[in-house]
Amino acid sequence: MAARLIDGKATAAELRAHVGRLADFFAAHTGRKPGLATVLVGEDPASSVYIRSKRSATGEAGMESFHHQLGADTSEADLVALIERLNADPAVDGILVQLPLPKGIDAARVIATIDPDKDVDGFHVVNAGRLAVGDPAALVPCTPLGCLHLLKAELGDLAGLHAVVIGRSNIVGKPMTMLLLGESCTVTIAHSRTRDLPAIAREADILVAAVGRPEMVRGDWVKPGATVIDVGINRVPGSEPGKTRLVGDVALAEAREIAGAITPVPGGVGPMTIAMLLRNTLVAAHRRAGLAPPEGL
Ligand SMILES: NC(=O)c1ccc[n+]([C@@H]2O[C@H](COP(=O)([O-])OP(=O)(O)OC[C@H]3O[C@@H](n4cnc5c(N)ncnc54)[C@H](OP(=O)(O)O)[C@@H]3O)[C@@H](O)[C@H]2O)c1
Repeated sequence: MAARLIDGKATAAELRAHVGRLADFFAAHTGRKPGLATVLVGEDPASSVYIRSKRSATGEAGMESFHHQLGADTSEADLVALIERLNADPAVDGILVQLPLPKGIDAARVIATIDPDKDVDGFHVVNAGRLAVGDPAALVPCTPLGCLHLLKAELGDLAGLHAVVIGRSNIVGKPMTMLLLGESCTVTIAHSRTRDLPAIAREADILVAAVGRPEMVRGDWVKPGATVIDVGINRVPGSEPGKTRLVGDVALAEAREIAGAITPVPGGVGPMTIAMLLRNTLVAAHRRAGLAPPEGL
């Protein structure tokens, strides 16, 4: 029987509506809406699309969106100065600097300037450290947090399950590993130097692919009944000339024959990222206002 498709679009829509209701409560209680500042340097078309969807989602969830569009020739010093102003601005609960930044700007320095308690992308080393030591004050990167949300919705308690995470980036693979450890999974983290990856993947009750290689994970890499989370977003040539289509890091049709449940691409993990950005902004707003963040988000 074909695996169940995990509907990230529907889960993200529910979560966004829930965060919106909680944002209304927050505004009624504090007299102000949660606020997310977005910063875009230059006019990279893909980044502009991402920022537009983040801003419209922020508005739809009843939050303030403060956007700062800077020219591609902006200096690192000017960008750092803007972030320092946003750090000090009481109306701003979350700060998101869209990556990648133009050449000549040190992204690590820019991220290090963000107040960790406003770092809703969860990329600051303080938040990486908080996540690693299990500190609940951590703001966790949105994509792995979205993956965990889907896994818990699908499987409930994850304790004792063997999870294999393919990919060790700071924004997906490593935080995913920490989150799964926090759920008491036994976690194997794999990467480009891992030997006999198919055999390791076949041991996974939970298989997370965050690689960036179209359909690398084949059907015979999947343990029967496993839950497969495909983080990859890869644009490949479509069936008609000049057209393209999106595929994940997992060969969906093959893996679906073996897995128990699987996220499709598109419509799986992708929509969860913005939902979790709103969630992180709401949580940051509560903490900054001295309120306990809502539970179960
Ligand atoms: N919203 C979303 O849904 C969302 C968000 C973020 C990313 N993504 C997608 O997720 C994918 C991964 O993103 P990322 O930022 O984590 O990418 P990344 O920084 O390029 O990291 C890729 C990881 O995959 C590993 N890798 C590369 N080739 C491999 C191979 N042949 N076998 C095993 N491992 C291999 C690399 O290993 P080494 O460390 O050894 O080089 C690295 O750890 C991309 O497709 C990206 O577009 C989606």
